[in-house]
Amino acid sequence: MRFLITLLLALGTACSFADAKALKKATYSQFVDKAGNITLPRNYRASWTHLGSWLVADPKSPGHGFHDVYMQPLAAEHYRKTKQFLDGAVIIKEVRKVKEGAQTTGLAQWAGETNIWFVMVRDTQGRFKGNADWAERWGWALFESKSMTSAGMMTDVSGGFETTCKGCHLPAQDTDWVFIDGYPTLTE
Ligand code: HEC
Repeated sequence: MRFLITLLLALGTACSFADAKALKKATYSQFVDKAGNITLPRNYRASWTHLGSWLVADPKSPGHGFHDVYMQPLAAEHYRKTKQFLDGAVIIKEVRKVKEGAQTTGLAQWAGETNIWFVMVRDTQGRFKGNADWAERWGWALFESKSMTSAGMMTDVSGGFETTCKGCHLPAQDTDWVFIDGYPTLTE
């Protein structure tokens, strides 16, 4: 009971309990099915909060491209105030091609088409035990434009958290597996 009251107070300071519940409901009805399969949210650029950008400039690097990271506005607001990710918070990292050319500012690089999306879905309830895409209080998914069907659908091509994501995300283990230094929107 005391835990519940503490939780309610903590949530109440950041966003209303109803808002937090609505966020969770939206995530687990729109982007995650009953078996834990994750689908890529659409139109996030127009209405989600931009957390920060990375540039991996070396063409030989596995992550070559512009990386832009987004999260639902309510989840971002909650993190700013509490340093906690709400259940149902979704983080999308899109990887875009690097374009280059002369502009009036000088030789410029800018972001071209998106070919990869990485998605993390916050799960504080341990919903999908035994599903390889769910671990460490997140769901982990990967989408590639080359697998897009004519109807515009993509399926998750990740081999699961252990195989595809864990090794690279270990340096961020202490910050909930998120590379928080790249997201001034959440920390400053
Ligand atoms: C080659 C290493 C590598 C692999 C593999 C990898 N990540 Fe990441 N990921 C990173 C790094 C480093 C960052 C932050 C810096 C960047 O984007 O360059 C990041 C950032 C992210 C972000 C933005 C939020 C954050 O944590 O900073 C998401 C979402 C994400 N990764 C999801 C995934 C998922 C899901 C998988 C597995 C399907 C995965 N990543 C596999 C290295 C990796």
